[in-house]
Amino acid sequence: MTAATETTGVSPDPIFQIASGFMAAKHLFIANEVGLFDQLADGPATLDDLAQRTGITGRRLRILADAMVALGLLERTDDQYRNGPVAATFLSGTGPADLRPFLRFWDRLSYPTWTKFETAVRTGQGQSTLHLPEEEQRIFSEGVEAIQAGPAQALPATYDFSRHSRVLDIGGGTGSWLSAIVRRYPDLQATLFELPAAATLARQHLASDPNTRQVEVVAGDFFADPLPEGHDAVLIANVVHLFSPEHNLDLLRRTRRVVPNGARLLLVDFWTDPTHTQPPFAALMAGEFLVITGEGDVYSAEDVGGWLRETGWRPVEHQPVAGPISVIVAEATG
Ligand SMILES: C[S@@+](CC[C@H](N)C(=O)[O-])C[C@H]1O[C@@H](n2cnc3c(N)ncnc32)[C@H](O)[C@@H]1O
Repeated sequence: MTAATETTGVSPDPIFQIASGFMAAKHLFIANEVGLFDQLADGPATLDDLAQRTGITGRRLRILADAMVALGLLERTDDQYRNGPVAATFLSGTGPADLRPFLRFWDRLSYPTWTKFETAVRTGQGQSTLHLPEEEQRIFSEGVEAIQAGPAQALPATYDFSRHSRVLDIGGGTGSWLSAIVRRYPDLQATLFELPAAATLARQHLASDPNTRQVEVVAGDFFADPLPEGHDAVLIANVVHLFSPEHNLDLLRRTRRVVPNGARLLLVDFWTDPTHTQPPFAALMAGEFLVITGEGDVYSAEDVGGWLRETGWRPVEHQPVAGPISVIVAEATG
C-alpha cells in the first residue's frame, strides 16, 4: 500500500491497469500472429511442443503463453497449456466465430497509427488513409468484417427488409452485411458502393458466395461521385464515425437525393448516449476514428437525429443490433 493510499484510501490500481493495457493488447496480438491459439485448437500441448510448432524458442514463447494465462485466454496445468473457452471459440480458427483477422488489423494497422495519437489530438491531423495498398486493404476490410460479424448477422433479424425491393449499402466493406441480408431475403436486389480498392475486394468476397449473385458492386467516392439510384433502402454501417458532422451532413444529403420519398435509411454504428461516454467501448473507439481520419468521432442518437431532420429524413426508430452496435432507422420525407 502506498503512503497516498494509506492517507486517502484511494488505490492507484486502476491507473496501472489502464496504463498496462497496451502490453496486454500487444501480447494478445503477437500470440495470435505466432499461431499460439491455432496450435492449441486440437488439444493441450507442452511448451516444447508449442515451440516446435510455432518456431519460437521456449523461454520467449513462455513469456507470451504465460501472459495469455495471466489474462485468462489460456489455461495451464503443470507444463500443459490449453485454450480457455474464449480463445477456443474466437481465436482457434476452429470455433464458430473467427476474430483472428480483427486482431491482425489492430496489430498491423491500428496499433502503429495510435503511436501518432497525440498528433491527432493536438492538430486534428489524420494518421491513416482510406485509400490503402492491396495487402493493407485486405487486412483492414477483413478485420472490420470480423469485428462486425455479429452485428452483420443480427441486422436482418432486427430489421424487416421484406417491405423493400432494392437495398444500397454505402461504404459496404467486403459485402458481409449485404450477404447476411440477401441470404435471409433472397428476393432483394442489392448494390454495394465502395472506394475502388475496397470494391475490388468486395467483388472477390461476393463471388465466392453463391447466395450473393444479385449483389452489384459499384466503385466510387461518395463525396465526389454520384451514388447509385433506384433503391428503397439504404444501409450506412460504420461509416459516419470516420467523418466530421459537416461531412456527414453532406453524405446524408447526397443519399437523400438518390432515393424516393418513403425510402428507409439504416444508420448502423457505435451510437452513444447523449454524454458520449456509454457504451464505454464506443468512448474508446472515438480515439480510433479520430486518429484514422483526423475528424472521426462517435456520435449520439441525438446528434444524428438533428442531422437527419436537416437533410430530408424523419427518424423512425433506434434499435439495438449486437453488443455496442445499434441501428437508427429514418424515412425519406417529401
Ligand atoms: C469501417 S468500414 C465499414 C465497412 C462496413 N460498412 C461494415 O460496417 O463492416 C468504412 C468503409 O467506408 C468506406 N469508405 C470510406 N470513405 C469512403 C468514400 N469516400 N466513398 C466510398 N466508401 C468509403 C471504406 O472503404 C470502408 O470500407
